[in-house]
Amino acid sequence: MIELDPHSLVGKGLHRECFVHPDDPTRCIKIVVAGTGIEERREQACYAALARRNVSWEMLPRFHGRVLTNLGEGAVFDLVRDYDHRISLTLAHYVASRQLTARHRAALCRALADLKKYLLDNRIITMTLKPKNILFQLEAADAGKLVIVDNIGNSDLIPLANYSSRLARWKINRKWRRFERSMRRDYAANDALPGVIP
Ligand SMILES: Nc1ncnc2c1ncn2[C@@H]1O[C@H](COP(=O)(O)OP(=O)(O)OP(=O)(O)O)[C@@H](O)[C@H]1O
Ligand SMILES: [Mg+2]
Repeated sequence: MIELDPHSLVGKGLHRECFVHPDDPTRCIKIVVAGTGIEERREQACYAALARRNVSWEMLPRFHGRVLTNLGEGAVFDLVRDYDHRISLTLAHYVASRQLTARHRAALCRALADLKKYLLDNRIITMTLKPKNILFQLEAADAGKLVIVDNIGNSDLIPLANYSSRLARWKINRKWRRFERSMRRDYAANDALPGVIP
């Protein structure tokens, strides 16, 4: 059984806690701490479907199965780190700061365009895109890419978009417009943001 140290907590959402894997610094273990775990089952089903379709994992951490820990069952994923080995911070962290947004303006602009293209090219349908569930992984001091760490999977009752590529495109574009709109609204006080999301 894997012993998780509270000091190795990477982040915490509404449902899960994320820890550095004690035996592998390139991976993390997520433990469900609230809710029914239904989101997690949906996420894993979606991951399995993506793996069958052979999608690129460039902007999605790989899933490495389940493990037993002292805090219960956990799900193992790639841990996203920057070029200097620090654990990557969320897009929310960057856009909450006028200074960080301005400093990384060009890299953020490019990374957002690349993420949208990645989702469309690989037909990856996410649930609501939120900046707290997307990490900005710095690959150099002034370059980076975005990685989605949560809310993968189609919540529709009948996931038609899983079968029709035109419908998938339409859905991804709609999710993206909503994502941009919510960022403009939630970070309206950041006057550097229009340089990233016009
Ligand atoms: N693969 C990862 N690499 C690095 N940090 C991560 C990774 N996955 C999650 N994190 C960090 O842990 C936090 C919580 O993880 P996650 O979003 O999966 O939890 P959650 O409870 O499902 O979130 P939500 O509140 O959106 O439902 C993230 O916001 C992020 O800061
Ligand atoms: Mg989350």
